[in-house]
Amino acid sequence: MDLVKIELSEKEMPTRWYNVTPDMPVPMSPPLHPGTLQPVGPDDLAPLFPMSLIMQEVSQDRYIDIPEELQQIFRMWRPSPLFRAHRLEKALDTPAKIYYKYEGGSPAGSHKLNTAVAQAFYNKQEGIARLTTETGAGQWGSALALGCQFFGLELKVYMVKVSYHQKPYRRILMETWGAGVVASPSQDTNAGRQVLAQDAENPGSLGTAISEAVEDAATHEDTHYSLGSVLNHVLLHQTVIGQEARLQMEKAGDYPDIIVGCIGGGSNFAGLLLPFIPDKVSGKNVRIICAEPEACPSLTKGLYRYDFGDTVGLTPLLKMYTLGHTFTPPRIHAGGLRYHGMAPIICHLYDQKLIEATAVHQNATFEAAVSFARSEGIVPAPEPAHALRVAMDEALKCRESGEKKTILVGLSGHGHFDLGAYEEYLSGNLPDYSYPWELVEEALTHVPQVPEK
Ligand SMILES: Cc1ncc(COP(=O)(O)O)c(C=O)c1O
Repeated sequence: MDLVKIELSEKEMPTRWYNVTPDMPVPMSPPLHPGTLQPVGPDDLAPLFPMSLIMQEVSQDRYIDIPEELQQIFRMWRPSPLFRAHRLEKALDTPAKIYYKYEGGSPAGSHKLNTAVAQAFYNKQEGIARLTTETGAGQWGSALALGCQFFGLELKVYMVKVSYHQKPYRRILMETWGAGVVASPSQDTNAGRQVLAQDAENPGSLGTAISEAVEDAATHEDTHYSLGSVLNHVLLHQTVIGQEARLQMEKAGDYPDIIVGCIGGGSNFAGLLLPFIPDKVSGKNVRIICAEPEACPSLTKGLYRYDFGDTVGLTPLLKMYTLGHTFTPPRIHAGGLRYHGMAPIICHLYDQKLIEATAVHQNATFEAAVSFARSEGIVPAPEPAHALRVAMDEALKCRESGEKKTILVGLSGHGHFDLGAYEEYLSGNLPDYSYPWELVEEALTHVPQVPEK
């Protein structure tokens, strides 16, 4: 029988997170304090995060147990299904086998809930009453709103202004789950007021929204900050995805030749690929490719430098491929994936040539999304549609070469709140845009100077 859904029982759900740090062949560069340029210690991060998450951030343990209370919540949507895309394969007329790991079945509609509940849990445990965060398209904000609701925490979300106006339904979802939402840049923080003073029409960026959320948390005693991507502990929480996928591929009697995921800050892709890294490091022949938009090409056009995680310069310096923390994403871009930097873990793997990166245009992305929706039924979020584009291109290469490759792709969420972008695509109003080198070069003049060790 040709399986369509490869499922795991609740008993087979991972009970530990996988930490890749001890398996990195070369150690990663630590985050630095922007004032002293020395590695940040746990105390530097304590105003923003609970100590349990800080310890996960710097942990050298290969596995970290998932508390039973969290496992119980995860069982509401985990293990998530792995699908074999028989109908897509047929539509592409390819001998390749395409599997997709679908995270859109979580109540929030994406993988983001995996870390949202974990972060809310640990903050609650340390007696925190309120969290702040930023959100772009609203996926992360809505996931954290639900996470906070599960644990009785208050939440304030700084939502990138352009999305706040373009995507009212995500805001309403956040409010339904009890969060307060403001458009960023806002008048509520010094960071927001500073950006508005320079440009009253500023459309906002994730970098600015992060500055606002960090400032809010740092200036309120009962408040911590929560981030939906980039940091090690966030990527750690997503490794349930790849652990499940490995087991599911095993059940299907298969192993991927190619793993593909989209990258915004790097969390869903890391969640899928990291549990395969030990195989890759020990010489297994698996290609791991991440897909990013041409409009925000952090890995393919950015430079590998220490930079701030936010626009105003409040966060520690992270070693990452960056377009410069002053990057403002083009307004015309329909999907998410608009962060100037990238998770240091992803950047390190890329620098070590353990993973590849490719950038795709939004029309090609939506073309893939629509043909996926027409064959597999699921309407993908624009972010993972970038990964579907790359996976489908690899499958089409197989049609040319006759190779029967196995492709595993991360489908991190559904696109039910992104139909405005679909409408633009379907009516032919979606422009393609390549982020110009001149802007990268200009922005990189604002990146802090950190001497190479
Ligand atoms: C469904 C979905 N996939 C992917 C991303 C990109 O983030 P990350 O790279 O952290 O997975 C987002 C960001 O909001 C998202 O909503």
